[in-house]
This record gives sequence, C-alpha cells and structure tokens, in this order.
Amino acid sequence: NLGHGSFEYMSAVCWLFGRNLYDTLQYPVGLISSSWGGTPIEAWSSGRSLKACGIPKEGKLDKRGESRSPLRGEVRAECPNFRFTSPASISGPSKHSVLWNAMIHPLHNMTLKGVIWYQGEANIDLNRDLYNCTFPALIEDWRQTFHLGSEGQTERLFPFGFVQLSAVLSNEDSDDRFPQIRWHQTADVGYVPNQRMPNTFMAVAMDLGDRTSPFGSIHPRDKQTVAYRLHLGARAVAYGEKKVTFQGPLPEKIELLANKGLLSLTYSQHIEVQRQDHEIFEISCCGDHQCKWLPAPVNTSSTQTLALNISSCPGAVAALRYAWATWPCEYKRCPLYDPKSSLPAPPFIAFNCKPDA
Ligand SMILES: *[C@@H]1O[C@H](CO)[C@@H](O)[C@H](O)[C@H]1NC(C)=O
Ligand SMILES: *[C@@H]1O[C@H](CO)[C@@H](O)[C@H](O)[C@H]1NC(C)=O
Ligand SMILES: *[C@@H]1O[C@H](CO)[C@@H](O)[C@H](O)[C@H]1NC(C)=O
Ligand SMILES: *[C@@H]1O[C@H](CO)[C@@H](O)[C@H](O)[C@H]1NC(C)=O
Repeated sequence: NLGHGSFEYMSAVCWLFGRNLYDTLQYPVGLISSSWGGTPIEAWSSGRSLKACGIPKEGKLDKRGESRSPLRGEVRAECPNFRFTSPASISGPSKHSVLWNAMIHPLHNMTLKGVIWYQGEANIDLNRDLYNCTFPALIEDWRQTFHLGSEGQTERLFPFGFVQLSAVLSNEDSDDRFPQIRWHQTADVGYVPNQRMPNTFMAVAMDLGDRTSPFGSIHPRDKQTVAYRLHLGARAVAYGEKKVTFQGPLPEKIELLANKGLLSLTYSQHIEVQRQDHEIFEISCCGDHQCKWLPAPVNTSSTQTLALNISSCPGAVAALRYAWATWPCEYKRCPLYDPKSSLPAPPFIAFNCKPDA
C-alpha cells in the first residue's frame, strides 16, 4: 500500500512505541516504518547472515525455469478457506534477501538510535530450527551494516527490541511450533539481553491473543500493550533508565524436593499469581526409556516462590516448561505477572542436569 506517494500504511506498534517514548523523553522521535506482513526472516537477511547460519543460496532454477523455493505466496490465493488453519503461511515476498535489498539496505547510511522488530510467524514452517541462529545473525549483520554505512554515527551495538510472538488459534493440539519460535527469539535463553543477544529487549505478547480479531487471530488488535511493554524495554536498555522493570518474572532456582513430591521454583523478582492454572507448568516425566509431558499443578505460592506438585510422575523429572503452547492463556489472564509492572512471566523450558538424582 505504499505506492503512489500515499502514506496510508504505518505500523501501529511502531507509532505507539514512538508515542510512548515521546511521552517519556519529551522530545521528538523520528520513526521509519519498513515492513511487509507474512514474510520470513530470510527475506530480511543479507546473504552474508544466511550463510553464517548454513542456509544455502536460493534461486537455482529447475527445468521449468521456476524457483525451487517451496514456499511462496500462492497458498492463500488458491485456498482462501484455509487462511487460518495454517495461520503463518507466507503471504509476502519470501525470496532470500529480497526485502533486505529493497527495504533495509537502502537506509544504511541513516543514523539510527535503534530498531524494533515484530516477525516470526512466517518461520514456523520454514527453517524454524535455525531461527536461534538467523535472528541473532540478522541483528549482528544489521548492526554492522548501519554502523559502517553511517560512518560510525549509528552505534555499533545499537539497541534492538522485538516482540515475542503472541498467541494464534491453531487446529493442532500439542503443536509446539509457536513456543519454539518464541524460545528461539531469545536464542534459547528465555530472556534478553543475554550473551548471544547483547543490548536487546523483548516485549512478551503471548497473553494478548485475540480470538475475534477481524484480521484473523494472527493479528491481535491490542497494539497499545505491545508498544507499552516494548517501550519499557527501550527505556531500560536504550535510554539507561536502570530502575525500569522491563521483563516479567523468571525462576532463578529450580529445586527438586523428590521426597515431598514437589518442585520448588524461586523467582528473581516478585510474582503475582493472578489465576490458578493446573496445566501451564509441565514436567517431562521419564521412565521405561521414554519421557512424556505431564501437568505439574501449583501447590503453594509466596511472593517469590512456587511449589509444583509433581507426584503424578513416578519416574525421573527431566525438564520443566511454562506456557509452552500456541495459546497459553486468555487475554491478560496468564497465571503469573510482575505485580508492579503487570508484565507477564515469559515462557521458559529448563532441563534437569541430574535427572536421576
Ligand atoms: C545515502 O544513500 C543514498 C542511497 O544509496 C544515496 O543516494 C545518498 O547520497 C547517501 N547519503 C549519504 C549522506 O551518503
Ligand atoms: C537451535 O535450535 C535447534 C533446534 O531446537 C537446536 O538443535 C540447536 O542446538 C540450537 N542451536 C543453538 C545455537 O542454540
Ligand atoms: C499442598 O500440599 C499440602 C501437603 O504438602 C497439601 O496438604 C495441600 O492440600 C496442597 N495444596 C494444594 C493446593 O495442592
Ligand atoms: C499432589 O496431587 C495429588 C493428586 O494428583 C494429591 O493426591 C497429593 O496430595 C498432592 N500432593 C501435594 C504435596 O500437594
């Protein structure tokens, strides 16, 4: 919709993010929106960063002269009824580097304070297992390009914020493609910044799912909350406001109290148990050479701890995960939040290093 000099399209998250920042900073903030819905990360990546993740060059032509790239935008046009059954189908340009070349690289000599990013749905079936490489690699590559392109005016490690995928309606039970992308968005750490993703910040959005969005559930309408959470990250990471809480609670200690049939979680900050949910924590329970995921209901909670009932597991507990679902909870109704900032506890998975102990 950007043709003919019209400016009908502006990203709502980008604009609201800028307005939140303006309210805090009290000076004008310039915004550039460069976006295209339904596109995979490969389209926004340079050849160099794809290569760093072992993604081979594309564009070899088969006998009919057609590209062999398996996923193109045709799916939706051919079967409109299936539009939401595979919600993340690619509907925009997907060719490697095409949007990097056309929509990002041309900006490289501008001086930027930072970048925000909201993408990932279109990778649930395309190089999903590599997203923990392609995303950090894209960030690194953009940083290098913009730093050099601006002759050093754009900071080498400029702040990079992103939205962790929200919830989407899915037909498949126990589909963990969305949770996996959410996890890969943090380079499999669960929070940012971290060693692989320095100077980054994240807005958790898995509790903002929108069943009745007229645009389809993949487009939740509450952009205000997304932008608000993102701006908290920007204030803390990009503008150095050390006291701003910008992420929800994560456990810093997980202890197996096997004789009591409990798993004890100690959080790094206060928690508010907003709602009981007996299924949102799950343990991987192993015995007889196989493991399966079982719910671990909350037994007790205090301001900074939870005890989970794991008595349903007769074997060894190999892992614990939280909110590991495409749609983990209803709108703003996840079980755990930070009481002051109302930020949701992010999803996580943790492995037991001594499952037999
Ligand atoms: C920035 O890049 C554009 C497009 O490549 C070019 O036309 C322009 O002259 C460049 N500006 C500066 C200041 O280098
Ligand atoms: C990325 O994720 C895949 C699939 O989950 C995993 O096998 C791999 O070890 C991860 N790589 C890194 C660098 O974290
Ligand atoms: C928690 O555990 C205690 C025993 O340790 C039990 O009496 C109590 O009913 C449990 N509460 C819940 C909510 O499971
Ligand atoms: C754990 O849950 C079981 C029922 O599934 C119950 O019998 C048991 O008392 C619970 N244990 C604790 C410590 O709450």
